[in-house]
Amino acid sequence: MTDSKHIVSIKQYLDTAILERIFARTKEFKSAEQPNFAVLRGKVVATLFYEPSTRTRLSFETAIQRLGAQLVSTENAGQFSSAAKGETLEDTIRTINGYVDAIVLRHPSLGAAELAVKYSDVPIVNAGDGAGEHPTQALLDLFTVVEAKGSLKGLNIALVGDLLNGRTIHSLIHLLALYDCELYFIAPEQLQIQEAYQDELKQSGTKFTCRNNWDDVLGEVDVLYQTRVQKERFESIDDYNAVKDSFIFGVADLQKMKTDAVIMHPLPRVNEIAPEVDDDPRAIYFEQAKNGLYVRMALLEHILS
Ligand code: NCD
Repeated sequence: MTDSKHIVSIKQYLDTAILERIFARTKEFKSAEQPNFAVLRGKVVATLFYEPSTRTRLSFETAIQRLGAQLVSTENAGQFSSAAKGETLEDTIRTINGYVDAIVLRHPSLGAAELAVKYSDVPIVNAGDGAGEHPTQALLDLFTVVEAKGSLKGLNIALVGDLLNGRTIHSLIHLLALYDCELYFIAPEQLQIQEAYQDELKQSGTKFTCRNNWDDVLGEVDVLYQTRVQKERFESIDDYNAVKDSFIFGVADLQKMKTDAVIMHPLPRVNEIAPEVDDDPRAIYFEQAKNGLYVRMALLEHILS
């Protein structure tokens, strides 16, 4: 349920009626000739990013401005905010609370957004908390699947790569479990999806299998969702090197895919998808990234207006 003004976990959004409302508004924003709206005029929103970001930060910052709100920002907050002097996240959140109407937060610690909520009277938006969650990404991923495929019903969806550490995956799974689709978790064994997620899927009756190769799967799926191996979450570079190139999708793989399948990736990609794949109409990851702007506009409006 999304009675909360904060967006901390995708679990707040597991309600198809609310999702439909947000996506209807997303479509309006996307189809507008001049996507400038004054719905948040007079508000000020802060983006506070302690981890690198291109799409999430810039799409949020664009969304804030396209809605008529104003932005204050510190990228690389670990280095350029008072965190560099030893200030705690709690104190930083309390302080920024005195200035702005909402805070978009990315932080390397799992649970950081939940912690921030305890010290915040203004909405906190979780833009990624370590290997925890990335709820706004999951919402834009779902929007993109529905836009491309019409509905989720009966789809075979492969989630590939670093399922252990990938926060986009952790949030997306909960959304997919709302619909009648079948999931394939494809990862090297040490990066396979945690038991806890598997248990939740069993309880919700979602069909899924875990595999360490995709040979039998590529021709079956309607959605291939590739992810980056999360280098920053590994304890040793050797452990990372051992798994980093486990699943590389190349041009030859396109022939194995259904003609109406789609290939997605939250980006950034490292090696997971060869650039030659980009020209195929089934490669929709840049459209997916673009949808981030419109979904985030709809979400900011939802929590702030
Ligand atoms: C993802 C993230 O930060 O979790 N990127 C994004 O927000 N689009 C995925 C990643 O970094 O691999």
